[in-house]
Amino acid sequence: MVDTKVNLSGWELDNPIIPSSGTFGFGKEFAELYDINCLGSFSFKGTTRDPRFGNPTPRIAECHAGLINSVGLQNPGVEHVIAHELPELGTYFKKKVIANVSGFSIDEYAYTCEQLGKQDCVGLLEVNISCPNVRHGGMSFGTNPEAAAEVTSAVKQVTDKPVYIKLSPNVTDIVEIAKACEQAGADGISLINTMLGMRIDIKRRKPVIANRMGGYSGRGIFPIALRMVYQVYEAVSIPIIGMGGVSTTEDVIEMMLAGASAVQIGAANLIDPWICKKIIEKLPETMQKYGINSLKEIIGGAHNG
Ligand code: FUM
Repeated sequence: MVDTKVNLSGWELDNPIIPSSGTFGFGKEFAELYDINCLGSFSFKGTTRDPRFGNPTPRIAECHAGLINSVGLQNPGVEHVIAHELPELGTYFKKKVIANVSGFSIDEYAYTCEQLGKQDCVGLLEVNISCPNVRHGGMSFGTNPEAAAEVTSAVKQVTDKPVYIKLSPNVTDIVEIAKACEQAGADGISLINTMLGMRIDIKRRKPVIANRMGGYSGRGIFPIALRMVYQVYEAVSIPIIGMGGVSTTEDVIEMMLAGASAVQIGAANLIDPWICKKIIEKLPETMQKYGINSLKEIIGGAHNG
């Protein structure tokens, strides 16, 4: 009998599989397909203080090995999430969830985190300073170590829940930003968000996406995500949630060997909505194949050589 349990800042998860924010909504549509209580947890739709309509359409462009999105943080705002989404979520998901928070100012991040941090169903806050699809917010906080540290310490002051900072790969040195977050009190790091990309419609001679560029995710970014998890693991001593193109049980094992304590699955949910369930069911067999008794024991295991 293998042990698939993992731990994030004192929170024990049955397994490391967590659907990523923006690919799983509040879980409702997926709960109609399968019992989502098999998940370790899930990171719900990125929430801001105020409701947001999002970016103009088209917002999605298909690519080799993935897709580009420019959704623009569409969400109903924190008040609605607390009053409606979370109570409904509690009827079909019995575990704690990850609250993904975005913002356009330090005060906004702090306000939204304070409100969501008070909710019993929230196991940890994932502070997204890496959205590439909005101006004056999102990624602009995640491309500069001082700004990343400022958001981190502001959020830490308003909540007792663990605070994980979600980082952008669209930077020269992700390690420097991860270290700044750790020094500012972050309890963990989530990485990576999407990579800035674009497609051009040859017939129209125009960008496919109305906002011209967007975030590229899917299998194509897995080796980059893995490399960044590996590098950040060597520089910080807080847990890492690894993500970026993860689509198979072997990808999950690789991410954990690179240094991830848990693993998020994003774009793959859009291709196969049962993918997380399938990966969870296959995990014990894959662990046995590679002689792994406990997932906790392999975290960072590729750094031994
Ligand atoms: O456009 C979006 O809503 C994407 C968010 C993100 O990548 O963090």
